Amino acid sequence: MRVIEVDNYDEMSEKAAELILEKIKENKHANLGLATGGTPVGTYRCLIKDHTENKTSYKNVQTFNLDEYIGIDPDNPNSYHSYMKANLFDHIDIPAAQTHIPNGNAEDLAIECLRYDKMIEEKGGIDLQLLGIGTNGHIGFNEPGTPFASHTHVVELAQSTREANARYFNSLDEVPTHALTMGISSILASKGIVLLASGEMKADAIYELLYGKIDEEMPASALRKHSNVTLIADKDALKKV
Ligand code: GLP
Repeated sequence: MRVIEVDNYDEMSEKAAELILEKIKENKHANLGLATGGTPVGTYRCLIKDHTENKTSYKNVQTFNLDEYIGIDPDNPNSYHSYMKANLFDHIDIPAAQTHIPNGNAEDLAIECLRYDKMIEEKGGIDLQLLGIGTNGHIGFNEPGTPFASHTHVVELAQSTREANARYFNSLDEVPTHALTMGISSILASKGIVLLASGEMKADAIYELLYGKIDEEMPASALRKHSNVTLIADKDALKKV
């Protein structure tokens, strides 16, 4: 795993945006895997700034998001559909039909999971997957104990994950209990992966990721089985290393 140490959140965001832009320059038809959460917001801000200033085009890019809550409307401001529009899609020239997010309101969730994996495969797979990491080591919404062989699936969110995400909702009760997420195996199928981590809250997870056992109890440790992963982490996130 390549580790890029940066001073702070802003530098992490700039470096991540640089890697994404390089990928688009290399291939204007790039398939990007995208993440939500607080961590990638700054990266998206940098991409928007670049789009405004340098006119990088996303007309031929396809995006695939990692996950979505189950049972909230896509128009709900807390859905990942809304997050992606507000933080990126509404500010760049990507056609809506080229942005893909699992449908947490599908009538048959098992079929939705199969559809999502098949679609990614049919579109040629993901060239570069952006990832954040949960304090318990989750990636996407793959909580500890998720089989490394998992594809897109339904998960019950860990209490710690619901609590961590409650800051976006009016109360903990409003945080959905379940989500759809690309599985560990779907994530590892990406040709390249960029994992972002900022802040002391992530220090334990980053230590475990780099030096702990490769174990399903630590979902992010699966990334050590992939040959093209770049971790961009700030000093605080690397504090325990
Ligand atoms: C959320 C998301 C993950 C994200 C993680 C960390 O639950 N499903 O994709 O990486 O938690 O979030 P944050 O970046 O806000 O710390």
